[in-house]
Amino acid sequence: MEPKYCYYLSSCINFSITGLSFCNKLWAEWENYKYNQNFLDVFLQRRETVINNMKQGIVPDHCLNCMYLENLNNKNINNKLKFIECYHWDQCNCACFYCSNRDTTQLKITNPGFKKVDGVINLLAALKELKKRNLLDNETRLSIVGGECTILKEFPDIIKFVIKNNYAIDILSNGILYEKYISKALKANKKSFLSISLDSGTRRTFIQIKQVDKFNDVVKNLKRYVKETKENSNQIMVKYIILKGVNDNKQEIDKFFEVCTDIGITNYFPAIEFCHSVKKTENTDIPDNICELYDYFKTKAKEINPNNTVSTYDFVELMIKNKSYKIK
Ligand SMILES: C[S@@+](CC[C@H](N)C(=O)[O-])C[C@H]1O[C@@H](n2cnc3c(N)ncnc32)[C@H](O)[C@@H]1O
Ligand code: SF4
Ligand code: SF4
Repeated sequence: MEPKYCYYLSSCINFSITGLSFCNKLWAEWENYKYNQNFLDVFLQRRETVINNMKQGIVPDHCLNCMYLENLNNKNINNKLKFIECYHWDQCNCACFYCSNRDTTQLKITNPGFKKVDGVINLLAALKELKKRNLLDNETRLSIVGGECTILKEFPDIIKFVIKNNYAIDILSNGILYEKYISKALKANKKSFLSISLDSGTRRTFIQIKQVDKFNDVVKNLKRYVKETKENSNQIMVKYIILKGVNDNKQEIDKFFEVCTDIGITNYFPAIEFCHSVKKTENTDIPDNICELYDYFKTKAKEINPNNTVSTYDFVELMIKNKSYKIK
């Protein structure tokens, strides 16, 4: 059998709410290793077995037909962890109706005072342990996905650890709260990114989506991050998730670009709702107007300024091309 490879299987670790997994791709029924005693040992042993099996062309069931599965060819696999996904909490200070955490948590606006929260494990301790075992190197990248990072108690300490070791980090936030460590992380490593899902160009649509009246706060905080990162503000991406019947019109997108241009945004990230749609088994077609608006968004970003960056998910590009949520 042809030796197989997947970047996630060979180089990643995903700290999810329920345990450790190789990836968190929506279409995969992940193998999940609970946070028992010695959970890192159990996972790392399993990882070694999986990688050896892959070299013989044997892949885990959940990987069959995945778009990220490829032939090994001459790829060099070492034991380093290149990509660490941090999804070990799911609380938030808003309640986007589309949120990927919606089904698993009681995601309500139960946190009006923005009380800081803990994750299900002490992630910093786990990161330090991985470093001690020499599994991280200068190519290591963290992704802070989770719930909302600015209400996670250990977030500043994770950033300090990242800066100290010169790792890159992707920070996903709703931007409602300003956090000084975000700018510090962006300035410390030019390969780090902040992604903020604004999803709207008006206060009214923002409230409709996120259920909190915080549009102006997000705009204000974005301005602050842009100012603090100056010529490197391209590290700040603003997301627009196209939502059927809510913000799926050109007027809202045009207003979004007006607001973002005024802030000084140069990196735009269009997406579509996929977390719930991918799991649908009945109608898997993506409506034509959603595909058209996705393209409209990309074209508009470049029309405004050809130097603007348009960032996308590769699997969303594939979905739009096929006009289908079915990717496996
Ligand atoms: C669960 S959120 C957590 C991070 C942060 N609170 C935020 O909203 O940016 C992680 C990322 O997934 C995106 N996301 C959440 N639910 C989604 C969905 N149903 N479809 C597409 N993207 C989604 C968010 O926009 C965000 O970029
Ligand atoms: S499901 Fe896909 S991305 Fe996830 S580990 Fe398997 S091959 Fe890799
Ligand atoms: S801001 Fe992020 S975590 Fe919070 S509800 Fe929205 S998508 Fe979910």
